[in-house]
Amino acid sequence: MQPVNPRIVQLFNDALTVELTVTNTYFLHARMLDNWGLARLGKVFYDLSIEEMKDADDLISRILMFDGHPNVQKLGSIQVGESAEEMLQLGFESEKAAVAQFNASAKECHDLADHASAAVFEEMARDEETHADWFEGQLEAVKIVGTAQYLAQQIGSDSPA
Ligand SMILES: [Fe+2]
Ligand SMILES: [Fe+2]
Repeated sequence: MQPVNPRIVQLFNDALTVELTVTNTYFLHARMLDNWGLARLGKVFYDLSIEEMKDADDLISRILMFDGHPNVQKLGSIQVGESAEEMLQLGFESEKAAVAQFNASAKECHDLADHASAAVFEEMARDEETHADWFEGQLEAVKIVGTAQYLAQQIGSDSPA
């Protein structure tokens, strides 16, 4: 295998930072929601956190495959929502930011003629796009039915773990 451009490894490490940051944020939000009695919504954040952790896992393997050093020390700033609605808003914003970053990385990979890595970023961007859509839909629902009604639907006793 040809040696990989260090810039490509850097782009994957930047993506790893994004995935680790959302993993931590969603996990914290999941447990805060549970603590507020909103276990149904908490379970969604919990599952999402696990999904993002798997994304981080894939990136770590990919960076190692490229003989790079996965940087698991670095995290973006963790913004803590003070309400369920704010958590949805923050989730929407971080997913949109991830989509923009991964699309920009895909473009840079194409420019560096690494189309295989570009395809990986494009796939990741599509993934995060579905998350952004979900958050957007929830925010829309809050607007339509009102916060109290929305939150009433999120109460549940089932603990995710
Ligand atoms: Fe992800
Ligand atoms: Fe995501």
